[in-house]
Amino acid sequence: MEKKTFYITTPIYYPSDKLHIGHAYCTVAADTMARFKRLQGYDVMFLTGTDEHGQKIEDIAKAKGMTPKAYVDGVVAGIKDLWKLMNISNDRFIRTTDDYHEQAVQKIFKRLYEQGDIYKGEYKGKYCKPCESFWTDSQLVDGKCPDCGREVVEAHEEAYFFRLSAYADRLVKYYEEHPDFMEPQSRLNEMINNFIKPGLEDLCVSRTSFKWGIPVDFDPNHVVYVWVDALSNYITALGYGNDKYHDFDKYWPADVHLVGKEIMRFHSIIWPAMLMALDLPLPKKVFGHGWLLLEGGKMSKSKGNVVDPVVLCNRYGVDAIRYFLMREIPFGSDGVFSNESLITRINSDLANDLGNLVSRTVSMVEKYFGGTLPVEREAEPLDDELIAMAQGLRDKVADNIDRFQLPQALGEIFKLISRSNKYIDETTPWALGKDESKRARLATVLYNLLESIRVASVLLTPFMPQTAPKIWEQVGVPQELTTWESVASFGQLPAEVTVKKGETLFPRIDLAKELQELEEAMKAAQQPKEEKKESAVPGIAPLIDIDTFMKGDLRVAKIVECVPVKRAKKLLKLQLDDGLGGRQVVSGIAPWYKPEDLVGKKVIIVANLQPVKLCGEESQGMILAADAGENDVKVLFVDDSVPAGSKIH
Ligand code: MSP
Repeated sequence: MEKKTFYITTPIYYPSDKLHIGHAYCTVAADTMARFKRLQGYDVMFLTGTDEHGQKIEDIAKAKGMTPKAYVDGVVAGIKDLWKLMNISNDRFIRTTDDYHEQAVQKIFKRLYEQGDIYKGEYKGKYCKPCESFWTDSQLVDGKCPDCGREVVEAHEEAYFFRLSAYADRLVKYYEEHPDFMEPQSRLNEMINNFIKPGLEDLCVSRTSFKWGIPVDFDPNHVVYVWVDALSNYITALGYGNDKYHDFDKYWPADVHLVGKEIMRFHSIIWPAMLMALDLPLPKKVFGHGWLLLEGGKMSKSKGNVVDPVVLCNRYGVDAIRYFLMREIPFGSDGVFSNESLITRINSDLANDLGNLVSRTVSMVEKYFGGTLPVEREAEPLDDELIAMAQGLRDKVADNIDRFQLPQALGEIFKLISRSNKYIDETTPWALGKDESKRARLATVLYNLLESIRVASVLLTPFMPQTAPKIWEQVGVPQELTTWESVASFGQLPAEVTVKKGETLFPRIDLAKELQELEEAMKAAQQPKEEKKESAVPGIAPLIDIDTFMKGDLRVAKIVECVPVKRAKKLLKLQLDDGLGGRQVVSGIAPWYKPEDLVGKKVIIVANLQPVKLCGEESQGMILAADAGENDVKVLFVDDSVPAGSKIH
């Protein structure tokens, strides 16, 4: 039988800067769902990528003295590294600068133009440069951009338009016939009240004022304006309009586009209208999640309040961060991120509840049975609740996942973990261990615990892909008992299961001390790193600015004495008159100069180099010399008329 497919996407990210924890939130959620569906046996296509065109990118690259492509290449490499670090299991990564995408977008644009869905006109309106969005007067909030709250400017230019207004009725009908198309439900009301009811206006889909975009091939003064380019990624990445991929028929329509709430409008109005125009089926669902806020509001680089996911992952482990993101915030609502709530969750849920359960159980199997349970069993009614809970867990978790209730899904898993900890208190294995006649009962208790841990950890895999295998190693779960089928029923572990104590899964963190250190680490990570600017000439070192050059103090100095350094064939020790009281420099020029050739000559030295010891001799600076061909070195001598100590600029 053919596997059922599941196609899930994240938004494609702007490579305008390093991504922050808010971006990671969306991607981790999509990854968790993708992994869950794979566990369930679906044939999953999980797509993410980058949205690389537009004026903002062009401006940033220009300010950095780079081409837009060179600039985005660098940022995109960083984004890919982040997803790797966070264990994101995307099947495909699309860049809107990929050739196949660009060509497909040109085809889509042309087709829409030829069939009259795109027409040429003139755009007059309010434009928000940072958001690259045109707004109507009625959409502005207090005269400012409704998305970011910044100033907008009056703009007009020749442009192509997508006939969005013509699709209003069809869209409303579609929403009525597919009440689950948008989720959470509140988003549907927002879209109807804020955008559909005031009347849909045609959408500007080309620009002439910047060049960094996909050219409209039949009118090359224009580049395709961001949303037509960006939204099409969901189908071009499957091979629509190109020959790079061939699974459009297999995966389209998407099961879900996961997006942040501020881009819901694009995904639930513009994108469906575009698809209608292209005669394609609509995605089954667009889910608009909320924002991760900091106490001061939404995270943004311009506010200087971003949280760097790399710092967090390096300090606490990727799974702790994934867990926190998926547990703390009701999916669909906004939630506040704070270092304190992160560390508290790690300590209480991961170190105390999960970590302790695993380590206590494994330790007891080792202590009372030398690591391997005996076959004898003695069940009691007290066991039934725990067993029933473990047995019912799979379907409860699946049901929550299907309803995008990711925190609730985790909540169910942790209910079993807490119940298991309570079961330890109820059954008091330490007391059973003292009584030889209770061996079978003790083995039963420990088996039930190991089996509950197995069930919980298998279902945790999509959330914490690194932790689950660590648990299996300790608890003695073979690979074949980590499948979806294996958690349908209780009692799968072999009766004589063998455990192996391992390292602590989640060490407890000292909250007060850590809060301070974390804040410092976060600040340090935000310091801009020195960027290397390639020089225009191949073979020349990366560019530096004049300030960097001026940090070096170059002086003229006269060689007053010169002797070889014992035991170092290449070194000469020189005494210099540097016009500042004299100094000693050791230089590796012995193969090319005899001491007597040098005495009395004037040279250039780097006078402010940190002194070093070379073969036991202190060197207070460096003499400038040129590489004058293969294995030849020439010291740069200065005319005798230049006084010792003269500064060189
Ligand atoms: N390029 C567009 C998307 C085009 S999709 C065809 C874009 N990019 S973005 O990089 O600005 O944002 C990508 C996603 O990150 C959005 O879904 C956005 O909501 C999400 N987030 C950015 N900051 C966020 C938080 N602070 N919290 C949660 N999600 C956030 O929009």
